[in-house]
Amino acid sequence: MKKVKLRVPATVANLVCGFDILGTAIHEPYDEMEVNILDNPEIIIKHTDNFGLPEEPSNNVAGVVLMKIQEHLNLKNGFEIIINKKIKPGSGLGSSAASAAGAAVGANVLLGNILTKEELVHFAMFGEELASGVRHADNVAPCIFGGITLVKSSNPVDIIPLNSPDLFVTAVHPQVEVKTSDARQILKKNILLKDAIQQWGNIAGLVAGIQKNDFGLIGRSLHDVIIEPVRSILIPKFDEIKQKSLEIGALGGGISGSGPSIFMLSEKEEISQKIAKMMKSVYDEIGIESFVYVSKINPYGIQIID
Ligand code: HSE
Repeated sequence: MKKVKLRVPATVANLVCGFDILGTAIHEPYDEMEVNILDNPEIIIKHTDNFGLPEEPSNNVAGVVLMKIQEHLNLKNGFEIIINKKIKPGSGLGSSAASAAGAAVGANVLLGNILTKEELVHFAMFGEELASGVRHADNVAPCIFGGITLVKSSNPVDIIPLNSPDLFVTAVHPQVEVKTSDARQILKKNILLKDAIQQWGNIAGLVAGIQKNDFGLIGRSLHDVIIEPVRSILIPKFDEIKQKSLEIGALGGGISGSGPSIFMLSEKEEISQKIAKMMKSVYDEIGIESFVYVSKINPYGIQIID
């Protein structure tokens, strides 16, 4: 096999209370990637989208992942990778994770699947480090494993794939810029024990709710007393959108990754679509362009399409 084409989905990291440890793959939006294996050690990156991302391998999220894999396996082969990015960089929907995870999975398929999923997560995190300065796995893990994942540890990599409940995800991406590196820098370095107790109660409740398909428990657990109060200030209309989503019938939701996207979980598609309409109109009213996506939790993650 000389070439592989992949569909690489967006991901929602944190799932409100699980900062850096929980995430889910969704169906829309997704990137398309083609990976070719070369007989020489060159790494070539090409974008067919218009985002103007760097194509120099050492400065490209997919490029650094391929370089690390090449180095680790002492490969004489190189790779050409053609990326058609539809997950907008800086959206909070795992755009850099998609490039990083797609590069790792594509290379591995062409190498005869010699690396484990945990190893792929390990290499993909180098892409995240280039993009945000931190090697977090909560986007790349669900992208690679599919569904909802728990990052029990990122060093060493220990990923627990969770159940994929039958839920709808509505995500809105308002066209404002929030860089992950900035959204991390503003976080408090110390937290109060009383807040930590609430937070780990919610995380445990959320994981139990996901495993038991207990939507009431999932809804009761989607609260974040540590990150959201600080970051939500960067996102216009965050409180209004959250409040209105709950009134429409969402189980809960919050900031997608480091923002500015906001996501909501719902049991029924009808509710999810109503929330999408409301989100769009809230941003239309204040003249902020936005893109809205409705999809189910994506149990597959990255898929080979050719
Ligand atoms: N867990 C990371 C953060 C996700 O919230 O900074 C970034 O997409």
